[in-house]
Amino acid sequence: MGAIILSPESNNATPLAFDAEAALDAALKTSLLSLQGQSALITGASSGIGLATACQLAAEGVSLKLVARRAERLEALQAALNKRFPLVQIETLKADLAQPESWEALESAGFYAVDILINNAGLARGRDTVLQSQWADWQAMLDLDVAAAFEITRRVVPGMLQRGRGDIVCLGSAAGQIPYAGGAIYCAAKHALRAFCQVLRRETCGQNLRVLLISPGMVETEFSVVRLGAEAAKSVYAGMDPLTPAEVAAQMLFALKQPRHINWDELLLMATAQGGVEKVVRRD
Ligand SMILES: NC(=O)c1ccc[n+]([C@@H]2O[C@H](COP(=O)([O-])OP(=O)(O)OC[C@H]3O[C@@H](n4cnc5c(N)ncnc54)[C@H](OP(=O)(O)O)[C@@H]3O)[C@@H](O)[C@H]2O)c1
Repeated sequence: MGAIILSPESNNATPLAFDAEAALDAALKTSLLSLQGQSALITGASSGIGLATACQLAAEGVSLKLVARRAERLEALQAALNKRFPLVQIETLKADLAQPESWEALESAGFYAVDILINNAGLARGRDTVLQSQWADWQAMLDLDVAAAFEITRRVVPGMLQRGRGDIVCLGSAAGQIPYAGGAIYCAAKHALRAFCQVLRRETCGQNLRVLLISPGMVETEFSVVRLGAEAAKSVYAGMDPLTPAEVAAQMLFALKQPRHINWDELLLMATAQGGVEKVVRRD
């Protein structure tokens, strides 16, 4: 028996009205929100993605609460931002977020009362296998990438719910979606963060709280120096074009500027030369 081909004419349903001009207008009508006048807490603002995000949010007129351990860097950044954007309020706090006492210090400083949380501070230590790796490295990753990220979020969210709006942005990683040999605890930590974001999103859905997870691949920051040491880090980005911190920050801002009924749940963002966590094509 031959195939039955249904043409639109053979459909008995009433034809739908179609106005091409109206369809064109609707398709071209997109808008971005202004972030001006909002406030943001950025953890890990002394370097890399956190620093770039601070600069871009300040340029949008967002007042900032910046946290990291290197106070001198935060102060230098604050001075540069004040000079460039004199109307934007910038506060800084030196804190080691891996230490639970620091979470109280942020509370006392009023750092949790913000419209936007950029949960960015994080690190990886080493590329050892599960059997070779050291407890101290595991602990450093779990304390910062998991415990601090979870607890800071838990302290920020109630105020957002009370005020009826808020945005939580978490820095995950491609390692949080695709595990690789030599990445045991970092992969596990970022998988945990991803699960945490998914749960929070479900639990707060309908309360005007947006939860976004940005999961980058290779970004050239101090991340590899912290992970591998300065010498070994030199080869990580050789012969390829990694993402820059500014490029990652720009994606974050684009997500934040979407109309409030749009929640970018997740973004996996890779350099074009990185086809997977262990697949990098380098120039000769
Ligand atoms: N670079 C990448 O390829 C890449 C890829 C995927 C995901 N990520 C994620 O992106 C986030 C930012 O990393 P990055 O690439 O921008 O690295 P980075 O340049 O090393 O920046 C890390 C930031 O975290 C802060 N930090 C580290 N330990 C801290 C602690 N105990 N308490 C408070 N702040 C602390 C650092 O400041 P102080 O040292 O001054 O405290 C610094 O500001 C991390 O969550 C990372 O896992 C990075």
